[in-house]
Amino acid sequence: MKMFTLAKPAAGIIGALALVGTISLAGAQQPREGERPQPRLADLMQGAQVGHIKLWYAGKAGNWGLATYETKQLKTRLEDAAQLYQSLPVNDVTTMAKPIQAVSAAIAAKDVREFARAYDELTAGCNSCHQSVKLGFVHLRTPSSNPFSDQNFAPGKK
Ligand code: HEC
Repeated sequence: MKMFTLAKPAAGIIGALALVGTISLAGAQQPREGERPQPRLADLMQGAQVGHIKLWYAGKAGNWGLATYETKQLKTRLEDAAQLYQSLPVNDVTTMAKPIQAVSAAIAAKDVREFARAYDELTAGCNSCHQSVKLGFVHLRTPSSNPFSDQNFAPGKK
């Protein structure tokens, strides 16, 4: 089992935080090329959590366009996490490829039952990485109520 150590972004995050108070947001400059601020891993994960929820309700509603979109978002987020935080266990990153593929295949087949099965596999992948980095207390499951009441999950216009 690999111990997880919180990876620090390469840029001097402490220095950046010290500056926060003095920067006027209105006058904030665009970061220069190659200086894009890194998202925090926990923020990427919270985004993944949102995607995980939305993916479920999209699939359940048979909104396959949205389900495809959310799967891509989730995949990109996990790829970003793996690329930016290389202390993440490689095994647990790569094992996510299979459930993501299974979810995509179920979406392509518009197969609600298979979607639900693949979604369980996906969730198990989230939890298995959390366990291997000693964050087993971050335990995901299939959502039972939809917090995004401002979004209509029914299949809409293209
Ligand atoms: C390869 C490992 C890995 C995978 C896969 C993974 N996570 Fe995480 N997750 C982490 C780590 C590491 C943290 C702790 C981040 C931190 O605190 O800096 C975390 C934290 C979280 C948190 C807590 C964030 C918070 O601030 O509340 C949530 C929620 C979360 N992950 C959701 C997910 C979901 C949903 C999936 C699957 C779609 C997933 N994770 C897949 C490694 C992973």
